[in-house]
Amino acid sequence: MKIFIEKNYELLSSKAVLRFKKILESKKVKNIAFPTGNTPKLFYRKLVELYKKGKIDFSKISGFLIDEYYPMKKDSKDSFNYYISNNFFALVNLKEKYSLNGSNLDFISECRSYKELIEKKGGLDMAILGIGENGHIGFNEPGSELNSRVRLVELKNTTLDLNRAKYEAGPIPRYALTMGIYEIFRAKRIMLLASGKSKSERVRDFLNGPISRDLPVSVLRLHPDIEVIIDKEAAVLIEDKIMNLIN
Ligand code: GLP
Repeated sequence: MKIFIEKNYELLSSKAVLRFKKILESKKVKNIAFPTGNTPKLFYRKLVELYKKGKIDFSKISGFLIDEYYPMKKDSKDSFNYYISNNFFALVNLKEKYSLNGSNLDFISECRSYKELIEKKGGLDMAILGIGENGHIGFNEPGSELNSRVRLVELKNTTLDLNRAKYEAGPIPRYALTMGIYEIFRAKRIMLLASGKSKSERVRDFLNGPISRDLPVSVLRLHPDIEVIIDKEAAVLIEDKIMNLIN
């Protein structure tokens, strides 16, 4: 595991862009899973700026959105489809863009198709991830099976309370469609981003707590190729003995 601790959110985002650009240039990645949330917003903005300057090329890359509320219209401003389209997918030259459709009434076939699509494409080469404050990845909430696949999940109240603040219209859906921990863990490489004090407990537990279903992100500690990019605030609770290993 590589861990980078940057001074602030701005530098964290620049570091993530730098690392991501290098990985893209290595030409070893084609299928990449992208997250939503506040954390990657500046990362996306910086990628779009680079793209506009002709300094990065996504023409060989297929983008896969990790999750979506359910039920949810694709063009609703609260949908993750809207988020990823407006922050990234529609602003760069990705070869292909894929996402879960939260308005398909047949969620079983929606999930099955997405799972099969990922398999048909040869699996994910890379997953970029944020961490939910309760330790979720994608929408794999605490308690998720480690071999869980693309599926419908019921969101925890903690997640609903936090995400309500980012939500514009009406009551926030209780359900979501998400890639499973299996699809995410099987990605050949992972880039995990965390910013701010509110993530510090999860970052500490991720690095030094038990690997458990209660903290879905903890399973990523077993991943053979993961880099973690965080800022100082997210790193404040990392124990000294771990910090000594990082530095
Ligand atoms: C959301 C998404 C996750 C994201 C997380 C953190 O609910 N399902 O994929 O990583 O919450 O979001 P933020 O970066 O805003 O803290």
